[in-house]
Amino acid sequence: MDLGIKDRVALVTGAGRGIGRQICLTLAEEGAKMAVNDLFQERADAVAQEISQAGGQAMGVLADVTDQESVAAMVKRVSDEWGSLDVLVNNAGIPVITDPEDVSAAAGQFFSQSDRAQWERSMGLITHGVLNCSRAVIEGMSERRWGRIISIISDAGRVGEPRLVAYSMAKAGVVGFSKALAKEVGRYCITVNCISPATTATEATQAWLQAQGERIMRQYPLAKGLSRLGQPADIANAVAFLASQRAEWITGQVLSVNGGYSMAD
Ligand SMILES: NC(=O)c1ccc[n+]([C@@H]2O[C@H](COP(=O)([O-])OP(=O)(O)OC[C@H]3O[C@@H](n4cnc5c(N)ncnc54)[C@H](O)[C@@H]3O)[C@@H](O)[C@H]2O)c1
Repeated sequence: MDLGIKDRVALVTGAGRGIGRQICLTLAEEGAKMAVNDLFQERADAVAQEISQAGGQAMGVLADVTDQESVAAMVKRVSDEWGSLDVLVNNAGIPVITDPEDVSAAAGQFFSQSDRAQWERSMGLITHGVLNCSRAVIEGMSERRWGRIISIISDAGRVGEPRLVAYSMAKAGVVGFSKALAKEVGRYCITVNCISPATTATEATQAWLQAQGERIMRQYPLAKGLSRLGQPADIANAVAFLASQRAEWITGQVLSVNGGYSMAD
């Protein structure tokens, strides 16, 4: 099936590893020109190089998505280089902890033990990251009357996840954002949707998954049959479809890609 995105320009945030990296590889296979963003230049460059070596077009672009100025500069650089920016995937969503001494950095704390630093880390990255990146691309997409904005949320934001209360709140906020924006920009042929993974095997979840062992398989109806958990490719395939020409009539929607973990309406 031709997805109709050859030569479209796509920017994926937080794409230096994990789900974002795989989204870049998959969109590049469909012929999209890939801007690979990360907080770490070397991660972004490595993914861009992987794409180039496979015959695709890619550039690594450094920016902290929480910083509106650096996001605007990144979007300008991509648009200047390739003439447009057609697809934005808001993927960055797990905060990087730089200070190992920071007690608020502990993931998986109950809300009663959490503090403002922790809340701001999740809210800043998830909500402001999505606002900054979407704001930076929306005018160009409107002028060209074509665009796709896809945000990677989480089932935590759909059904709630204990010990991830602020994260759940922020991800749920991205759903409201996407539905409202979809109503504003439909007239410009821009679609705005969310993909909602449950636990997916990435560097970020590796240690936690190991600690869970086999029992986690019971939470996923498809896991036993397929003998596996969610992989970045599962998310990337869904993103590729929503980014495609074939999905032009789908907007304001949330699609869980989760092996049946939750079945939210
Ligand atoms: N892995 C899962 O189980 C899972 C489940 C549900 C939702 N998600 C969502 O999927 C997305 C990707 O998750 P992942 O597991 O691949 O994460 P990851 O931590 O493996 O990779 C994310 C990348 O984002 C980059 N990043 C972090 N902060 C950034 C910033 N401010 N600006 C730019 N880049 C930044 C990191 O450097 C890292 O390379 C996130 O939004 C996450 O919330 C993941």
